This record gives sequence, C-alpha cells and structure tokens, in this order.
Amino acid sequence: MPDEPAPGQAESTRAWDVNAAFWDARMGEGNDWHLQLVWPETERLLGLAPGAHLLDVGCGNGLTCRRVAALGVRVTGIDASALMLAHAAARSLGDPAADARITYRRVDATDEAALRALGGGFDAACANMVLMDLAEVTPLYRALGHLLRPGAPFVFSVQHPAFNGTHAVHVEETEETAGGLVRRAFVKVRGYLADRVSYGQAIHGQPVPQPYFHRSLQSLLRPAFEAGLVLDGLVESAFPEGDTGRWRDLDGLPPVLIVRLRRPR
Ligand SMILES: C[S@@+](CC[C@H](N)C(=O)[O-])C[C@H]1O[C@@H](n2cnc3c(N)ncnc32)[C@H](O)[C@@H]1O
Repeated sequence: MPDEPAPGQAESTRAWDVNAAFWDARMGEGNDWHLQLVWPETERLLGLAPGAHLLDVGCGNGLTCRRVAALGVRVTGIDASALMLAHAAARSLGDPAADARITYRRVDATDEAALRALGGGFDAACANMVLMDLAEVTPLYRALGHLLRPGAPFVFSVQHPAFNGTHAVHVEETEETAGGLVRRAFVKVRGYLADRVSYGQAIHGQPVPQPYFHRSLQSLLRPAFEAGLVLDGLVESAFPEGDTGRWRDLDGLPPVLIVRLRRPR
C-alpha cells in the first residue's frame, strides 16, 4: 500500500473552515492563551502607534484587528479561511470610525504573489499562532520583504517548537517524600529536529483536527534570514507560576514562542 500523501495547505484551510464557528465561539475577544501568553508581549514587540498600518496574517475571527483598530491603528486582516473571515466581519466594535479602519481580505499566506498583490507600505505585520498552520513559510517571509516598510517589524507567535506540539508528550510522576507525595510534570520530547506534519486540535473539542506543520527553530528561522529579514526580539511565554491546569504545572516550560523579525533599513 503506498503511503498516504502528507496533508498540505488545502487540508489546513479546509479544517479551519470547518472549525471556524467553534473557534469564533471559544476565542471571542481572546481566551487565556491569547490574553496571557500571546498578546501582551506581541503588542510590546510591535510598538504600534495610532495611524500605523498593520498587516495581520491569519487574522482568524479578527480579534487583533478590532483591538488595534480601537487604538487608532489601520489594519488589514488576511486569512485563507472564508468562513473565519465571515465571523470576523460579523463582529463589530460598535464604533463606525474604528470599524472603518479594518479591511479583511481572503489571502493564502503561502501564496507569495497573492501576498505581494496587497501592495506595500505596511508599518508592521503580525501572525499570532499561525505559522504552524502554514504548509510553507518561505513565501510569507519573502513577501514581507516587499510589504513592510524598511525597518518595520514582523512579530509572530507559534507553539514553542522545542516543547509544544504533537512530538512533545506530557508526563507526570509522583514521588513519596517525608513531606508527603510530590507530583511533578514534564514534557518528553522526541524527533524535535524532524520537520513533519501531524494532526492535532487548536482548541480541545473542535469539530475536526487540523494539520500542524512542526518546524525546528532552525527550519522556522533560516528561511526568514535567507529572505533578508533579521531577528531582533524573542520571548518564551509561560503562564505565571502557581497557575493550575494543563501547561500551568510545567515549571519553567514555555508553550509559546514569540519572535520579532525586521526588514532592514
Ligand atoms: C490558530 S488560528 C489563529 C487566529 C488568530 N491569529 C488568533 O490569534 O486568534 C490560525 C489561523 O490561521 C489561518 N490560516 C491557516 N493557514 C493559512 C494560510 N495559508 N493563509 C492565511 N491564513 C491561514 C486559519 O484560517 C486561522 O484563522
């Protein structure tokens, strides 16, 4: 029996279409991952000023677009999923002037020509928890070299490639000590260096699983450097100590990596 072909971008986009309503209902204006792990450091690394024009790659239900538009930023949100964009367009800030600062476009971020057709002159770009959904990252990096103004940043967050993904299994052990039973949680990692595609769930209980494109750090960043972007910011984001729940009892292990790249001047 020949091997099944690995899932590609078409399978990713199809899964996001099927999951769009579930995602929108659960994400709303931000879940704990977004509000605690992703957005605060992303906002700091972007350093947006009112009047700036942001490109939000893989904008999902538009939560980032709305948040920055409310601050006076003009934003173009792009997504490959037409159904996700329909949810984004259905949500409003209730302020016509702020809503007018948002434009949504259906663009596949693995299509360099379609990205470059967006024009140029963006003051910043972001991609919040999107790159692991892209079958290819090189077209986006190459396009950003044209879309961004010289000196402008591109801030992206991903599942931390070293600790978070289908190659990383959570394990727990219990030790009997004089003070009682002590529970410790760990992440057991295998095959980190092997880029691969596997199915998982962005939010537990979603209608269908989606493909995750695992990339080691070097696979994630090398094509950005080859496209001429430079790295000038990096944050490994974890829940505060003392929080409980999945990922919260894994002392000192960050589930999210946030990277700032920049088009040189
Ligand atoms: C995990 S969600 C993140 C959404 C949003 N950025 C957020 O923080 O809530 C990933 C998003 O990437 C979009 N996406 C996946 N592949 C894409 C592609 N090739 N081009 C553009 N968007 C894509 C999906 O449709 C989905 O909306």
